[in-house]
Amino acid sequence: MTSLRSVTHTPGHVQLQWGDGVQSRVPAVWMRDNIPSARHRPDGQKLFDITALPPDISIRAAAITASGQLRVSFDPERLDAEFDPAWLARYRQRETSERRVLWDARLAMFPEATWDGVSTDREALGRWLRAVVEHGFALLHGVPAQPGRVLDAASLFGYVRETNYGRLFDVITEPSPANLANAGVGLGLHTDNPYRDPVPTLQLLHCLAASESGGDSVLCDGLRVAEALRDSHPQDFALLCHNPVRFRYVDDGVDLDFRSPMIETDAAGTVKAVRYNNRSLAPLDLDMAIVADYYRAYRRFSAMLHDPSAIISFRLAPGDLFIVDNRRVLHGRGAFSPGRRHLQGCYADMDSLRSTLRRIEGTR
Ligand code: OGA
Ligand code: ZN
Repeated sequence: MTSLRSVTHTPGHVQLQWGDGVQSRVPAVWMRDNIPSARHRPDGQKLFDITALPPDISIRAAAITASGQLRVSFDPERLDAEFDPAWLARYRQRETSERRVLWDARLAMFPEATWDGVSTDREALGRWLRAVVEHGFALLHGVPAQPGRVLDAASLFGYVRETNYGRLFDVITEPSPANLANAGVGLGLHTDNPYRDPVPTLQLLHCLAASESGGDSVLCDGLRVAEALRDSHPQDFALLCHNPVRFRYVDDGVDLDFRSPMIETDAAGTVKAVRYNNRSLAPLDLDMAIVADYYRAYRRFSAMLHDPSAIISFRLAPGDLFIVDNRRVLHGRGAFSPGRRHLQGCYADMDSLRSTLRRIEGTR
């Protein structure tokens, strides 16, 4: 465990010297806002609003107690608080974003596990969930090929997101389907349901019956391709980030319509989500002055996504299931001979997956 070696202070901050040589400088307002009694229990919910604190917080004294705790006195309230160094150590450096393993066709080992393993062994479940966070997908074998079992897979870590397609949906061949997923045609790489707000963050697909031939599954790491586009054609990347386009799905029961850029970045410029679905992209209603440029960027992004060097493929057998991070990994399938092929799918969300993973790994 990391111990505190010494502390100095000015009115504006404490300067911490850690046992392993790291130094950190923490502003007075951060210390005051995070005194242990600020929350109803450790890691619990905050008990006051920021405006409840005086605007001119400063540090009057700081010392390490005999038991190794950090003791700080705050002005103007004349308030004392003790901090556990193990807790403080978690905030020594700004948490770097989660480890994400970018991959392409050369990915040799697919993240995979068995239903028996993940449903009986928490550690095995943790490894499988970690793969979803790091690779954006994982396979599961031996999920009983019975209707409804895809929901059991979602309950391993979280909750199903019910939609107009139901708690689960069947992917079967229908004579005149509303959704092309239910025709015997191939489906180009896509993320699901970009017309939803918020978009489902996880999708599970479970194979109950395979086609006699064809219907292979394909996956592509949209995050890696977006980063590659940023490197090779920054203007195209910027066009896809800065211009919301409209995604739409209409059938007898719904009219789902949402506008979003194909590549979504956060304030730091990190790619947060890729939305790509040629079936549900509505006619572009961008400023016509940029439409030709936009098409150039869109076409280039699509070509890079579909490049064989970017894609992995596999054939789902009955009992196989895959889960994808639907904001990152695109999925698709080859055309197949009509007939018995039957998949069941459902949506779920990343927050509960991460929560379950944190509970298993014990990280904070
Ligand atoms: C879907 C889909 C893939 C498949 O239903 O969203 O992409 O293999 N299906 O049928
Ligand atoms: Zn799909």
